Amino acid sequence: GTASGARHFLDLKDFSAEDLRAVLDSAAAMKARRRKGEIAAERPLAGKMLAMVFDRPSTRTRVSFDVAMRELGGETLMLTGSEMQLGRGETVGDTARVLSRYIDAIMIRILDHDLMLELAQYAEVPVINALTKVSHPCQIMADVMTFEEHRGPIGGRTVAWSGDANNVLASWVHAAARFDFTLNIAAPLELSAPAALLDWARGEGARVNVTTDPFEAVDGADAVVTDCWVSMGDEDEHYRHNLLSPYQVNAKLMAAAKDEAIFMHCLPAHRGEEVTAEIMDGPRSVVFDEAENRLHAQKGILAWCLGA
Ligand code: CP
Ligand code: NVA
Repeated sequence: GTASGARHFLDLKDFSAEDLRAVLDSAAAMKARRRKGEIAAERPLAGKMLAMVFDRPSTRTRVSFDVAMRELGGETLMLTGSEMQLGRGETVGDTARVLSRYIDAIMIRILDHDLMLELAQYAEVPVINALTKVSHPCQIMADVMTFEEHRGPIGGRTVAWSGDANNVLASWVHAAARFDFTLNIAAPLELSAPAALLDWARGEGARVNVTTDPFEAVDGADAVVTDCWVSMGDEDEHYRHNLLSPYQVNAKLMAAAKDEAIFMHCLPAHRGEEVTAEIMDGPRSVVFDEAENRLHAQKGILAWCLGA
């Protein structure tokens, strides 16, 4: 929260385990009620307007937030950074104060994490982090939901990450502490998780293990997770392909995980790079369930932020 007391959703580490569990429970309940056609009729967010500010492209986040808001009876306004005065140098603080006079909640995708935090500091309405260079909390809410649908409670289980220790991985680290699972991270030294993030995890008593060996990471894993080699903002870093190719999730790596291990990826995916087509499109892949659960998880997050 901030001075205004608005219920922001900025990072999983800001929340207690109980609050995150409550958001997931409400997401699951709304998913079940959607099947019966009930939730749309209830319209718990009727009269509420969500501004969706996108400074970077998006398919899943954009569509899932928009549909989630509408299915809950609310409305959305799509704004892109370049179309706003933000793109001409108006401060994030002033933008936040102005939007707060019209809008009930603001979702923002912007690479600069500090600008997202500044928006939240000045906003008088809830701000939702829809991806920064530092973290992607909404994604990992959907991922935990998906894991549990396929494999039961995540507490005490083992998730393995193989690849670039990026924004998505950072939110997995936060989740490991809050949902009490073991997270094994395999990444090249040059693209390893930030020391401050790992220090935070240690301070929380989280079981987060770091290695450069993907086979060591997936040993005993219930889920193998990866993400693209070139995240938004990394497009000029061509050396990434060479560094990350040993971390590709392929049949050989999946064979070293538990027999029942699932494959997860936030998408968009690049077949032949971070994952082979065989694994991405194979029976252990739950990536499209993850994508679907973005919709249900966003509903839990929106309902929490807006007190519905
Ligand atoms: N996973 C995810 O956030 O996808 P988009 O970039 O399409 O929103
Ligand atoms: N790590 C990726 C996630 C995209 C949803 C990126 O930041 O581009």
